[in-house]
Amino acid sequence: RIVYVNGEYVSEEEAKISVFDRGFLMADAVYEVTSVLDGKLIDFDGHAARLARSLAELDMASPVSHEELLAIHREMVARNGIEDGLIYLQVTRGNPGDRDFVFPDPEKVRPGIVLFTQSKPGLADNPAAQVGMKVISIPDIRWGRRDIKTVQLLYPSMGKMMAKKAGCDDAWFVEEDGVVTEGTSNNAYIVKGSKIITRHLSEDILHGITRAAVLRIAKEAQMAVEERAFTVEEAKCADEAFVTSASAFVMPVVEIDGAMLGQGKPGPVAKRMREIYLEESR
Ligand code: PDD
Repeated sequence: RIVYVNGEYVSEEEAKISVFDRGFLMADAVYEVTSVLDGKLIDFDGHAARLARSLAELDMASPVSHEELLAIHREMVARNGIEDGLIYLQVTRGNPGDRDFVFPDPEKVRPGIVLFTQSKPGLADNPAAQVGMKVISIPDIRWGRRDIKTVQLLYPSMGKMMAKKAGCDDAWFVEEDGVVTEGTSNNAYIVKGSKIITRHLSEDILHGITRAAVLRIAKEAQMAVEERAFTVEEAKCADEAFVTSASAFVMPVVEIDGAMLGQGKPGPVAKRMREIYLEESR
């Protein structure tokens, strides 16, 4: 694989990052994942805008302009021959040459930028979408600024492991009052009748780029959308559920904490949203 590191395209074996990089030592870094279908970037502008927002929230300067970022993404797709897959991008506060809790002087230490690709042939035809996912609920013990897409992914990773151990596919984070925030790496939705319900935007969840597209599509299709909090108990009694993310698109959920939704098969609304989203993206 060819990866991009601070202005250069190099083989992954040659790529080097300092042990003093703050992304490595402090998780002082933000990231984006953009999908590629048929060689085409999906929702690039949305991901670039969210990256700019994450950086601004953390007082980090962007190491590249919007145009440069697009050019780098395209070059990565071309150099790695990606038809279907993902592009991972990370911007770190950089390498101050030592370990220190205080942010380095931005005049002296420039943010670092890394990109790599993951080839996923047939990404849009993931057979999991025909079966649907089983999720468990786990306490949301993450920090309070989940709207910033930082690389602090240890707890989400542990959540995924808890799900696997329970024979399930993923976990939904739940606050103390039983309210669902989001999935380990996706936004969560329930469907009641033909109404789509998903948590409102705040600092409690990531402002999903796929979420924005799916809600726009739903509104264009005259479907009812309610952006509000919902509990796990409400979700267990819903007609359907699904999640959205750049890598999963729209993925049906058929079981929550052992409770089967509908007929235990992907529901019509989730299937329809997935179909329209993929059709519009390609
Ligand atoms: N995750 N919520 C969380 C906590 C996420 O990590 C993600 C994305 C989303 C969905 O956002 P979007 O639709 O913009 O991908 C919601 C990426 C895919 C990941 O970490 O791999």
